[in-house]
Amino acid sequence: MTKTKHFLDLNKFSTQELRTILSYGSKLKSGEISGRPLEGKSLAMIFEKPSTRTRVSFEVGISQLGGSAVLLDPSSSQMGHGESIADTARVLSRFVDAIMIRTTSEEILHELSQYATVPVINGLTDESHPCQLMADVMTYEEHRGSIAGKTVTWCGDGNNVATSWIHAATRFGFELKLATPPELAPSQVALDWAKSEGGNISVTHSIDEGARGSDCIVADTWVSMGDKDAANRHNLLKPYQVDERVMGLAKDDALFMHCLPAHREEEVVSAVIDGPQSVVFDEAENRLHAQKGILYWCMSNL
Ligand code: CP
Ligand code: NVA
Repeated sequence: MTKTKHFLDLNKFSTQELRTILSYGSKLKSGEISGRPLEGKSLAMIFEKPSTRTRVSFEVGISQLGGSAVLLDPSSSQMGHGESIADTARVLSRFVDAIMIRTTSEEILHELSQYATVPVINGLTDESHPCQLMADVMTYEEHRGSIAGKTVTWCGDGNNVATSWIHAATRFGFELKLATPPELAPSQVALDWAKSEGGNISVTHSIDEGARGSDCIVADTWVSMGDKDAANRHNLLKPYQVDERVMGLAKDDALFMHCLPAHREEEVVSAVIDGPQSVVFDEAENRLHAQKGILYWCMSNL
């Protein structure tokens, strides 16, 4: 029996596997892989948190590949009324060819993948956002060539997206500097994993130290979905705002990236996110192309 091809986290893949999946995305984007390779296939999409990009890019992506999507909103499905994750996984596996889930905890994602007999894709949890990083690496490389050996600086909360940057840096071979307040440090589990795999990751509390000489400055919201202490986070994160001065510390050709949604004049000033170094809308578009690569990898009989 072949192993079910889940897409749960970047650290579960080898560099070569991630490069293969990314190349499918690029080839689907360029037309080198064409046609409707997922004709007749169905994708269930479960959203326990809000979404614009993830929802639209998966729905449009599967349809461009010849398949279709079914949306499950926990409040209007039995998931939100007591049916277990295990039973939901077993039932959905009888109807669809893959399941994408955006959920709170890694435990729910892993339980779903344990009981599903079709591929499960992580569309964001409180702990990680691997699909985003596939799009981000694709975007960086379209603009500047291979990301291997470059330096990327994360500014702000050591959150779910930061963890996926740690995984990506380790697998794609770039240096990652995380400039975070001590109170909102990145996941120690992710840092320990990166260390054990030889990743070049450092944590600083100084945004200047982090940004100096960097090839890419990255920001994310100060208050992620589900975070409750907004006022405290604003206080802690104010010194980590990306403005023109911070961009000026990076290399002249540094890019600015942000997974969106953005909050102008909070984590980033308008002059930067709307400025010439920003590639945030290419990043958003590449959610579609990178995820088509993921869908193609896990749903076609490769
Ligand atoms: N970047 C991202 O995942 O956006 P959504 O929350 O809109 O899906
Ligand atoms: N860190 C953010 C990312 C949104 C795409 C959140 O989890 O809300």
